[in-house]
Amino acid sequence: MADLDDIRDGDNFGLNTPADTSKFYLKGMNSTDWGVKNRMSRIFNRKSGNTVMLAFDHGFLMGPTSGLERIDLNIDPLAEHADCLMGCRGSIRSMISPENTKPVCLRADTGTTILTELNHNVLLGEEEMISMNSSALAAMIAVGDAATEATTMANFSRLVDIGNKYSIPVMCVTAVGKDMARDSRYFQLAARVGAENGASIVKTYYTEGFENVVACTPVPIVIAGGKKLPEIEALEMAYNAIQAGAAGVDMGRNVFQSEAPLAMIKAVGGVVHEGLKPKEALDLFETEKNAS
Ligand code: R5P
Repeated sequence: MADLDDIRDGDNFGLNTPADTSKFYLKGMNSTDWGVKNRMSRIFNRKSGNTVMLAFDHGFLMGPTSGLERIDLNIDPLAEHADCLMGCRGSIRSMISPENTKPVCLRADTGTTILTELNHNVLLGEEEMISMNSSALAAMIAVGDAATEATTMANFSRLVDIGNKYSIPVMCVTAVGKDMARDSRYFQLAARVGAENGASIVKTYYTEGFENVVACTPVPIVIAGGKKLPEIEALEMAYNAIQAGAAGVDMGRNVFQSEAPLAMIKAVGGVVHEGLKPKEALDLFETEKNAS
């Protein structure tokens, strides 16, 4: 029985003691098998330890949102500058070239749309996840949402069972409901719940105090970009997340809704892999934009 009247926030995150990565370069992966390590190596750059995942899974709940009207025109040209493509089976099959060799992180849950109540989701079939040649599988958990928390956690646990069966890493996408505070305390809880339930990667949002979110999550964390920001602000967010220990981004709207998506993904890559400061990355963005 949980002692709900005695929940004490953690305050000793050992920020000066890095996780043990002596057997593999990504944290939390020392004891995983060859298949998981091999797939994680396709997603996370060996030199930087980080990844630029390009998220374009928005359509299954939002339809043709701005910047994703034509994935063949909007996303395919960006693919070579991403480390991993995160999308839904339908758009990948119909609009991403099969000659693309970038690893795929398959959105493995689907469900209700913005026209009804979000997050009433189910999982795709196991055979479908394999046939998409997935390097990772992603599903959302709605921590704190009374209506959908149990269903999404059950989906996620089953997805981890499938991932473990085939040595495919599973990424936990932490959803934030409209009534949930987007603060470090909430993201610590949501990210840790994902990792405790078997995630190999956790996707969450950047917030003040992100060091603690990273420290209490025993596997690599990537940040979502969230709603479209001015380019400099999106680059600052990515920079701050990397400085706080994030292992990269899984960014969508701040790339494909940019006035120059190709320049933006290159600038984000500069931050994530080369440690460019936000102003340096913005200079790269401007140079690339003007060259195109
Ligand atoms: C959320 O469920 C989806 O995984 C989105 O792809 C994710 O939020 C990343 O996209 P954005 O950077 O546009 O927030």
